[in-house]
Amino acid sequence: MTGTIVGQPLPRVDGRAKVTGAARYAADFNQDSQLHAVIVSATVGLGRVTAIDSARVEAMPGVVAVITHRNAPRLAYGAHKTYIDPAVGERLHVLQDDKVRFYGQPVAIVVADTLDHAERAAAALQVSYESEQPTVDPQDPRAEAIIPEAAAQPDARIPADTARGEADNALANAEVKVDETYDIARENHNPMEPHATVAAWSGDRLTLWSKSQFVVNEQAEIAAIFGIPAEHVQVNCPFIGGAFGTSLRTWPHVTLAALAARQVGRPVKLVLTRKQMFFTTGHRPRTLQRIGLGATREGKLTAVVHEGTGETSRYEQFLEALTAATGYMYSCPNVRTRYRLTPLDTGTPNHMRGPGEASGIFALECALDELSYALGMDPVELRRRNEPEIDEAEGKPFSSRSLLQCYDQAAEHFGWSRRDPKPRAMRDGRLLVGMGAASATYPAYHAPASALVRLRPDGTAEVEVAASDMGPGTYTSMTQVAAETLGLPMERVRFSLGRSDFPPAPSHGGSWTMASVGSAIRAACLAAQEEAAKLAVADQRSPVFGANVEDVEWAAGRLRRRGDQAPGQPYRDIVASAGRAIEADASAQRDPEVAHRYSMHAFGAVMVEVAIDPDVGTIRVRRAVGAYGIGRVVNPRLARSQCIGGMIGGIGMALMERTALDGRDGRPVNAHMADYLMPVNLDIPHLEAHFVDEVDPHVNPLGVKGLGEIALVGMAPAIANAVFHATGIRVRTLPIRIEDVL
Ligand code: MOS
Repeated sequence: MTGTIVGQPLPRVDGRAKVTGAARYAADFNQDSQLHAVIVSATVGLGRVTAIDSARVEAMPGVVAVITHRNAPRLAYGAHKTYIDPAVGERLHVLQDDKVRFYGQPVAIVVADTLDHAERAAAALQVSYESEQPTVDPQDPRAEAIIPEAAAQPDARIPADTARGEADNALANAEVKVDETYDIARENHNPMEPHATVAAWSGDRLTLWSKSQFVVNEQAEIAAIFGIPAEHVQVNCPFIGGAFGTSLRTWPHVTLAALAARQVGRPVKLVLTRKQMFFTTGHRPRTLQRIGLGATREGKLTAVVHEGTGETSRYEQFLEALTAATGYMYSCPNVRTRYRLTPLDTGTPNHMRGPGEASGIFALECALDELSYALGMDPVELRRRNEPEIDEAEGKPFSSRSLLQCYDQAAEHFGWSRRDPKPRAMRDGRLLVGMGAASATYPAYHAPASALVRLRPDGTAEVEVAASDMGPGTYTSMTQVAAETLGLPMERVRFSLGRSDFPPAPSHGGSWTMASVGSAIRAACLAAQEEAAKLAVADQRSPVFGANVEDVEWAAGRLRRRGDQAPGQPYRDIVASAGRAIEADASAQRDPEVAHRYSMHAFGAVMVEVAIDPDVGTIRVRRAVGAYGIGRVVNPRLARSQCIGGMIGGIGMALMERTALDGRDGRPVNAHMADYLMPVNLDIPHLEAHFVDEVDPHVNPLGVKGLGEIALVGMAPAIANAVFHATGIRVRTLPIRIEDVL
């Protein structure tokens, strides 16, 4: 699908609403007689609640209710169908018993007439505990890695173990080898908009205005928790102020908002504090990885061993594809991967931008860089020599793969040829300059989705999908797909999302929204056209009356006989004649046959220049160039913006972000914006994103692979490799700190 609208760098259709404040986020939806709720979070890391002095706090000004495990209703917590990930099955049951499973777990909720009163009362609530020492460090001798249950299944999506050839023997006997371990810190998502839910009951029907990347899942989850039919729950989320994965799941605060609203019989607003966003809303799990690479002296890989362990909570097993890319990135006859989880006394981790690949590729791409120095070979040349013909893990061709074209483009824009291959050889005045490269990849996922299209009497079209838009420009790109398919100008199409009563869509994550929802919208537009054509050929007043549906065609939003030069009949006239709006819904999913035949992934190459002050160790990224093969680019302006955002996330991962836990009680000690470091404008240099021309006829009818995640994936290893090139010091622990390079 290419045309005058898809592929154009159009500005955001919701841009004005966002900058004028007209766009409303969850906490902006105030209800009549609404109360405010504040969560009281546990201040021990493991144990049980022994006493809560509710009575004193209930007497404080404005307080309406103090809800604890003592007076909270027992909730159904029934099973439900739409999971984020089947591996995440158990949920934290809030206020159902006296147990404290991790630091920050909700132990009470205080409801009051104003936020101020609720905050004061929550702060005053005395909770007593019997506590034990939690295990929060995967390297603690008490911690034990396990085989994740879902990964042990024979057809596991994320397998615990994979092997081809004899990787360990080949590694032991390799002419040249590296074998190292990598440690990536726990990170927390820190979007601008905090989690927020406004809950209002009407009888046994519940409406939620809630920050969610997956409104139909939130609907199903909350219905199952309260034991009510899903149709009795309406979830609304028109805008999201950034999320990066933290809103993929429905976390305990949503249950608590609904529970509080039911308990007090009035609507309740609940907004998490920044600090609370470090407790119960997921995090990128810390990972410990070992990579062993063996190669011939010519730089041909003979062995790849990748062992990785993530962390999870005691009550759920959170899996991510930590070792998945290792099997298909490069050509190698002997590859073994192993994935384990370490349950800890913390909340459950969650997907965070580029989940799995961001961490796994960091280790693999740093190890390749190390191997390139062991071989005395240019690191890009090393990747070139190991470019596979097919996906050797799956034994299938790639639907398309442009990794080497990405390297060519990145190298040209970056000026890779100016790089002196020796470490610590490039300088700018007294600064050490380093240049590093890394590959990026992310699967081109596609999930079943549906859409509704309504052609209206005024000549406009409405499109509805229960998708979300956390910021990449979904409103705009989906309007483009609908406008292009229908042959209407952008301003005649109105796209709506973020309501659970719209046709169901998958989670807004995994970089699959464009592929999944876009394909559904295209299918629904075609279905609406077909419906309109059927009405027209049966309508005596239509110029195409009497024609076969196969003999008419649409051109620029008008219907005419195939090959006819007349302008044709516009939607408006067909709809007017019908006397009602013409509606069609349709679903789309990837053809299973095609999915079986091809390995589908996006690829990219990232090059970074850093400058390091040798005296004080400050590390600055000076510029970065990413080139990506992501299939069709629906909107280059939005795509560039997405990529820049992902690259900035990669700067955070490489140099700043780390959630530090106090070993005594599991408290995140830097649960605030002053000490949880993230890139700010001064940390963000010149960033470039380029897209190689890539036509993939297999992935989906739009030919899109998705690009949200991949932009973060290669950044951290490119930075770490540049730091080595600048200093000669190899840092295998993220974030890289000043003291690491001194
Ligand atoms: Mo993204 S981690 O798929 O929200």
